[in-house]
Amino acid sequence: MSNKAIEIYQKRRTQYALGKNLDVSNEQIIELVKEAVRQAPSSFNSQSSRAVILLGEQSELFWELTKEALRPLVPADAFVNTENKLASFAAGAGTVLFFEDQNVVKGLQEQFASYADNFPIWSEQSSGIAQFAVWTALADAGIGASLQHYNPVVDAAVAKTWDIPASWTLRAQMPFGSNEAGFGEKTFMEDEQRFRVFV
Ligand SMILES: Cc1cc2nc3c(=O)[nH]c(=O)nc-3n(C[C@H](O)[C@H](O)[C@H](O)COP(=O)(O)O)c2cc1C
Repeated sequence: MSNKAIEIYQKRRTQYALGKNLDVSNEQIIELVKEAVRQAPSSFNSQSSRAVILLGEQSELFWELTKEALRPLVPADAFVNTENKLASFAAGAGTVLFFEDQNVVKGLQEQFASYADNFPIWSEQSSGIAQFAVWTALADAGIGASLQHYNPVVDAAVAKTWDIPASWTLRAQMPFGSNEAGFGEKTFMEDEQRFRVFV
Protein backbone atom coordinates (compact mmCIF):
# COMPACT_ATOMS: atom_id res chain seq x y z
CA MET A 1 0.00 0.00 0.00
CA SER A 2 1.52 3.32 -0.98
CA ASN A 3 1.36 6.02 1.64
CA LYS A 4 2.41 9.66 1.23
CA ALA A 5 3.65 10.02 4.80
CA ILE A 6 5.88 6.95 4.52
CA GLU A 7 7.24 8.17 1.18
CA ILE A 8 8.28 11.44 2.84
CA TYR A 9 9.84 9.58 5.78
CA GLN A 10 11.86 7.57 3.26
CA LYS A 11 13.09 10.81 1.66
CA ARG A 12 14.43 12.14 4.96
CA ARG A 13 18.07 11.23 5.30
CA THR A 14 21.13 12.70 6.96
CA GLN A 15 22.88 14.98 4.47
CA TYR A 16 26.33 16.34 5.33
CA ALA A 17 27.17 17.62 1.82
CA LEU A 18 25.22 20.87 1.96
CA GLY A 19 25.23 23.80 -0.44
CA LYS A 20 23.40 27.06 -1.00
CA ASN A 21 21.90 26.09 -4.36
CA LEU A 22 18.24 26.04 -3.43
CA ASP A 23 15.37 27.04 -5.68
CA VAL A 24 13.17 27.58 -2.63
CA SER A 25 12.96 31.14 -1.27
CA ASN A 26 13.89 32.10 2.28
CA GLU A 27 10.24 33.02 2.89
CA GLN A 28 9.12 29.54 1.83
CA ILE A 29 11.72 27.88 4.07
CA ILE A 30 10.72 30.06 7.04
CA GLU A 31 7.03 29.22 6.57
CA LEU A 32 7.82 25.52 6.13
CA VAL A 33 9.79 25.36 9.37
CA LYS A 34 7.19 27.36 11.28
CA GLU A 35 4.30 25.23 10.07
CA ALA A 36 6.15 21.98 10.79
CA VAL A 37 6.83 23.11 14.39
CA ARG A 38 3.24 24.36 14.76
CA GLN A 39 1.80 21.05 13.59
CA ALA A 40 4.03 18.92 15.85
CA PRO A 41 2.11 17.59 18.84
CA SER A 42 3.05 18.35 22.45
CA SER A 43 1.79 17.11 25.82
CA PHE A 44 -1.44 18.89 26.77
CA ASN A 45 -0.91 20.92 23.59
CA SER A 46 1.59 22.90 25.67
CA GLN A 47 3.61 23.92 22.59
CA SER A 48 6.88 23.99 24.51
CA SER A 49 9.06 23.82 21.38
CA ARG A 50 10.75 26.96 20.09
CA ALA A 51 12.76 27.39 16.89
CA VAL A 52 15.25 30.00 15.79
CA ILE A 53 15.69 30.02 12.03
CA LEU A 54 19.08 31.29 10.89
CA LEU A 55 19.60 31.97 7.20
CA GLY A 56 22.68 32.88 5.18
CA GLU A 57 25.23 34.87 7.18
CA GLN A 58 23.33 34.34 10.43
CA SER A 59 23.75 30.59 10.01
CA GLU A 60 27.43 31.03 9.16
CA LEU A 61 27.79 33.10 12.34
CA PHE A 62 26.28 30.24 14.36
CA TRP A 63 28.90 27.81 13.05
CA GLU A 64 31.65 30.38 13.67
CA LEU A 65 30.48 30.74 17.29
CA THR A 66 30.42 26.95 17.58
CA LYS A 67 33.98 26.78 16.31
CA GLU A 68 35.19 29.31 18.87
CA ALA A 69 33.29 27.53 21.67
CA LEU A 70 34.92 24.21 20.72
CA ARG A 71 38.44 25.56 20.17
CA PRO A 72 39.49 25.41 23.85
CA LEU A 73 37.92 21.95 24.25
CA VAL A 74 39.36 20.07 21.27
CA PRO A 75 43.04 19.04 21.12
CA ALA A 76 44.90 21.33 18.68
CA ASP A 77 45.92 18.49 16.33
CA ALA A 78 42.31 17.31 16.02
CA PHE A 79 40.88 20.76 15.53
CA VAL A 80 41.31 20.79 11.76
CA ASN A 81 38.80 17.93 11.56
CA THR A 82 36.39 19.88 13.73
CA GLU A 83 36.86 22.95 11.55
CA ASN A 84 36.16 20.97 8.39
CA LYS A 85 33.04 19.44 9.84
CA LEU A 86 31.70 22.80 11.00
CA ALA A 87 32.55 24.32 7.60
CA SER A 88 30.38 21.66 5.94
CA PHE A 89 27.43 22.79 8.06
CA ALA A 90 28.16 26.46 7.38
CA ALA A 91 28.20 25.68 3.65
CA GLY A 92 24.43 25.15 3.76
CA ALA A 93 21.66 27.70 3.36
CA GLY A 94 20.68 27.89 6.99
CA THR A 95 20.34 26.27 10.39
CA VAL A 96 17.33 25.70 12.61
CA LEU A 97 18.00 25.85 16.34
CA PHE A 98 15.51 23.85 18.41
CA PHE A 99 14.76 24.90 21.98
CA GLU A 100 12.35 23.84 24.71
CA ASP A 101 10.84 26.55 26.90
CA GLN A 102 11.37 25.46 30.51
CA ASN A 103 8.82 28.02 31.73
CA VAL A 104 6.18 25.97 29.91
CA VAL A 105 7.47 22.79 31.58
CA LYS A 106 7.42 24.45 35.04
CA GLY A 107 3.94 25.83 34.44
CA LEU A 108 2.64 22.36 33.56
CA GLN A 109 4.31 20.85 36.63
CA GLU A 110 2.55 23.40 38.84
CA GLN A 111 -0.78 22.99 37.10
CA PHE A 112 -0.77 19.20 36.93
CA ALA A 113 1.30 18.14 39.96
CA SER A 114 0.51 14.44 39.62
CA TYR A 115 2.32 14.38 36.23
CA ALA A 116 5.20 16.59 37.40
CA ASP A 117 7.93 14.02 36.72
CA ASN A 118 6.67 13.41 33.20
CA PHE A 119 6.68 16.94 31.83
CA PRO A 120 10.47 17.26 31.33
CA ILE A 121 10.39 13.88 29.50
CA TRP A 122 7.43 14.86 27.37
CA SER A 123 9.12 18.16 26.55
CA GLU A 124 12.16 16.24 25.21
CA GLN A 125 9.86 13.96 23.23
CA SER A 126 8.00 16.96 21.81
CA SER A 127 11.31 18.46 20.75
CA GLY A 128 12.21 15.24 18.92
CA ILE A 129 8.86 15.23 17.15
CA ALA A 130 9.29 18.86 16.12
CA GLN A 131 12.77 18.07 14.81
CA PHE A 132 11.44 15.15 12.80
CA ALA A 133 8.58 17.26 11.46
CA VAL A 134 10.97 19.95 10.22
CA TRP A 135 13.47 17.42 8.85
CA THR A 136 10.81 15.58 6.84
CA ALA A 137 9.20 18.81 5.60
CA LEU A 138 12.60 20.02 4.40
CA ALA A 139 13.27 16.66 2.75
CA ASP A 140 9.94 16.81 0.94
CA ALA A 141 10.90 20.26 -0.37
CA GLY A 142 14.15 18.79 -1.74
CA ILE A 143 16.25 20.34 1.02
CA GLY A 144 18.96 18.26 2.72
CA ALA A 145 19.67 18.48 6.45
CA SER A 146 21.34 16.79 9.39
CA LEU A 147 20.81 16.83 13.12
CA GLN A 148 23.58 18.16 15.36
CA HIS A 149 24.12 18.62 19.09
CA TYR A 150 26.60 21.32 20.00
CA ASN A 151 24.56 22.28 23.06
CA PRO A 152 25.41 23.03 25.81
CA VAL A 153 28.84 24.21 24.58
CA VAL A 154 27.31 26.90 22.37
CA ASP A 155 24.38 27.88 24.60
CA ALA A 156 25.88 31.03 26.11
CA ALA A 157 27.09 32.42 22.77
CA VAL A 158 23.72 31.69 21.15
CA ALA A 159 21.77 33.31 23.99
CA LYS A 160 23.93 36.43 23.79
CA THR A 161 24.01 36.73 20.01
CA TRP A 162 20.31 36.20 19.33
CA ASP A 163 18.90 37.45 22.65
CA ILE A 164 17.39 34.08 23.55
CA PRO A 165 15.10 34.06 26.63
CA ALA A 166 16.77 32.46 29.68
CA SER A 167 14.01 29.83 29.90
CA TRP A 168 14.72 28.45 26.40
CA THR A 169 17.13 25.49 26.46
CA LEU A 170 18.87 24.55 23.24
CA ARG A 171 18.23 20.90 22.34
CA ALA A 172 19.45 20.45 18.75
CA GLN A 173 20.72 22.19 15.64
CA MET A 174 19.66 21.35 12.09
CA PRO A 175 21.91 22.67 9.32
CA PHE A 176 20.16 22.49 5.94
CA GLY A 177 20.78 23.34 2.30
CA SER A 178 20.95 21.92 -1.18
CA ASN A 179 21.84 18.23 -1.48
CA GLU A 180 25.37 18.27 -2.92
CA ALA A 181 25.75 14.49 -2.78
CA GLY A 182 23.56 11.42 -2.84
CA PHE A 183 22.72 9.31 0.17
CA GLY A 184 24.44 6.11 1.20
CA GLU A 185 22.45 2.94 1.52
CA LYS A 186 20.71 2.63 4.86
CA THR A 187 20.64 -0.67 6.67
CA PHE A 188 17.81 -1.83 8.88
CA MET A 189 17.82 -4.36 11.67
CA GLU A 190 15.75 -7.51 11.39
CA ASP A 191 12.03 -6.96 11.88
CA GLU A 192 11.93 -10.08 14.08
CA GLN A 193 14.17 -8.36 16.64
CA ARG A 194 12.25 -5.15 16.51
CA PHE A 195 8.57 -5.86 16.29
CA ARG A 196 6.16 -8.21 17.98
CA VAL A 197 2.74 -8.45 16.41
CA PHE A 198 -0.26 -10.14 17.94
CA VAL A 199 -3.42 -10.46 15.87
C1 LIG B 1 18.09 11.74 18.59
C2 LIG B 1 19.09 11.80 17.45
C3 LIG B 1 20.33 12.36 17.65
C4 LIG B 1 21.24 12.48 16.58
N1 LIG B 1 22.42 13.16 16.78
C5 LIG B 1 23.24 13.33 15.73
C6 LIG B 1 24.42 14.12 15.88
O1 LIG B 1 24.68 14.67 16.95
N2 LIG B 1 25.23 14.27 14.80
C7 LIG B 1 24.93 13.71 13.59
O2 LIG B 1 25.69 13.89 12.65
N3 LIG B 1 23.81 12.96 13.42
C8 LIG B 1 22.96 12.78 14.45
N4 LIG B 1 21.80 12.07 14.29
C9 LIG B 1 21.49 11.48 12.96
C10 LIG B 1 21.61 9.96 12.95
O3 LIG B 1 22.95 9.56 13.03
C11 LIG B 1 20.95 9.46 11.67
O4 LIG B 1 19.61 9.91 11.64
C12 LIG B 1 20.97 7.93 11.58
O5 LIG B 1 22.28 7.46 11.41
C13 LIG B 1 20.11 7.40 10.42
O6 LIG B 1 20.51 7.97 9.20
P1 LIG B 1 19.49 8.82 8.31
O7 LIG B 1 19.23 10.12 9.05
O8 LIG B 1 20.16 9.04 7.00
O9 LIG B 1 18.21 8.05 8.19
C14 LIG B 1 20.90 11.96 15.32
C15 LIG B 1 19.63 11.37 15.14
C16 LIG B 1 18.75 11.30 16.18
C17 LIG B 1 17.38 10.73 15.94
